[in-house]
Amino acid sequence: MNIEIRYYTQTGNSKKIADAIANELGLQARSIEEPMTEKADILFLCNSVYWAGVDKHVKQFIKKNAGNIGEIVNVSTAALIESSYGQMKSVAKDAGVRLSDKEFHCRGSFMALHAGHPNAADFAAACKFAKGVCG
Ligand SMILES: Cc1cc2nc3c(=O)[nH]c(=O)nc-3n(C[C@H](O)[C@H](O)[C@H](O)COP(=O)(O)O)c2cc1C
Repeated sequence: MNIEIRYYTQTGNSKKIADAIANELGLQARSIEEPMTEKADILFLCNSVYWAGVDKHVKQFIKKNAGNIGEIVNVSTAALIESSYGQMKSVAKDAGVRLSDKEFHCRGSFMALHAGHPNAADFAAACKFAKGVCG
């Protein structure tokens, strides 16, 4: 089973979560800016929302690589919303890509909100989640 961990970040939080998961699984997290060269059975996609939306670069990445993605596992941080899962659902549907019903979400710092998040407890929870997904 081929597993990939990708992230899109504007302020570093998604990369931190991606790196923690990658470290746990003995893999390397990569930016969505790097091309996908192999099929990923499971794609951990670490992302967020900006002004209430999933970034266009994330949408383009999914569309462009639809044929190489077995299933997306959504991993998100955000300051206010509970998860980017709802939005990712329609993005994945539009691209014809499967989205796992398993997802991980935690708070991400933004201006004065949630300073220090994701923190050690968030990383531990993300790692436990990822291990659970991969069996
Ligand atoms: C430009 C911008 C817009 C944001 N808009 C929202 C928002 O609409 N809702 C929300 O819950 N969080 C919002 N946030 C907070 C981010 O979702 C949160 O800081 C997240 O952890 C950022 O992930 P990143 O560091 O990987 O970019 C915003 C952050 C930025 C930088």
